[in-house]
Amino acid sequence: MKKQEIFDSYKNNIMPTYTKTPLIFIKGKGSRLWDIDHKEYLDFFPGWGVGNLGHCYPKVMQAVRDQVSKLIFIPNNFFHIPQAKLAAEIVFRTFPAKVFFCNSGAEANEAAIKFSRKFGASTPLSADGESSRTIGKGRFEVITFENSFHGRTLATLAATGQKKYQSGFDPLPEGFKTVKFNDINAVKNAISDKTVAVMLELIQGEGGVNLADKDFVLELRKLCDEKNMLLIIDEVQTGIGRTGKLFCYQDYGITPDIVTLAKALGGGLPIGMMIAKKEIADTLGPGMHASTFGGGLVICKAALGVLRGIQKEKLLQNASKISEYIFQKLNELKNKYPVIKEIRGMGLMIGVELNQEGKSIVEKCMEKGLLINCTHDTVLRLMPALNTSKKEVNKAVGILEEVLRGN
Ligand SMILES: Cc1ncc(COP(=O)(O)O)c(C=O)c1O
Repeated sequence: MKKQEIFDSYKNNIMPTYTKTPLIFIKGKGSRLWDIDHKEYLDFFPGWGVGNLGHCYPKVMQAVRDQVSKLIFIPNNFFHIPQAKLAAEIVFRTFPAKVFFCNSGAEANEAAIKFSRKFGASTPLSADGESSRTIGKGRFEVITFENSFHGRTLATLAATGQKKYQSGFDPLPEGFKTVKFNDINAVKNAISDKTVAVMLELIQGEGGVNLADKDFVLELRKLCDEKNMLLIIDEVQTGIGRTGKLFCYQDYGITPDIVTLAKALGGGLPIGMMIAKKEIADTLGPGMHASTFGGGLVICKAALGVLRGIQKEKLLQNASKISEYIFQKLNELKNKYPVIKEIRGMGLMIGVELNQEGKSIVEKCMEKGLLINCTHDTVLRLMPALNTSKKEVNKAVGILEEVLRGN
């Protein structure tokens, strides 16, 4: 297909749900991508958080090749080895838990919401920390936060604390209350006898790379324990080494009741996962929830390749080292260019807040061969792969500086 035929096919045959950038990529390796004209790009936002190991990570490619040559699909009413291995690996690396497999972040969060409702249907809220004094069963309300993002299904949209994603889709499912981020009193005030869970991103990605305060998270954990509410941590974007730990909650020193994962876990293939503490995991029994493709052979093999790669190549250590370096480099830029208001983030989840809109900067970086993102109009978002080198950081920051200089 010629370039114009590709663009025409999109225009004529595919619903216009994405703001498209007119680039057609045909090859990728590590942090590099090549387009149809063989122009090379440095990808500092690989796959919107999917590419934690960069493009075409060898262990993932090998795992996929190996599996497709043996067996591609087997439904979930049978057993298979890659699913058993991946579940055991995840439980080993998190906390005593059981997992549910699905295909995306929204589905993982949807599963967490269903799980919470089932849990709330049979367990009461504790009042004032006294487990003996209870105020009602049949709980279903989930507290979420302003500027959060939890997905595009109707329930996860209702959980998302950003009106712009919700408008036009009323009526959304009831049972969600959105409160101010990092405000423990706002959470306390929102609790009713119907509240069953709190859903939180420790770093809001789509919402502008906003970090949860450590004190807030610790208080929230305590509050959830006191009130017998589930603490759901959405690690769809922060998980799988993004922040320098395998899971961001490990940076906060808490154990969640539920963790949701997707994006980077599959190394580029679609996967979603809900992890729930062992003592509550059997809340969902046979027939209550399912996914035809969830936890398929190929994707589980790929995810095992991701986890092995992170461990064998010490990529968490590399991410922390590169994080320090890139923050230093970006802060040097901040000192030179007043257009940069703030640099924030954790590990390799980085936001560069500007005093102006970031769209034109992203476009100019792209012209010069650097791919980054802009969220919330003014926040440049960089999420380089965990195996990024210092040389690649120098190149990326160099391009960004050229653009800022000419701005
Ligand atoms: C924190 C968070 N949760 C959920 C989702 C939804 O994931 P998916 O697009 O895989 O449904 C996203 C997507 O960006 C996300 O960043």
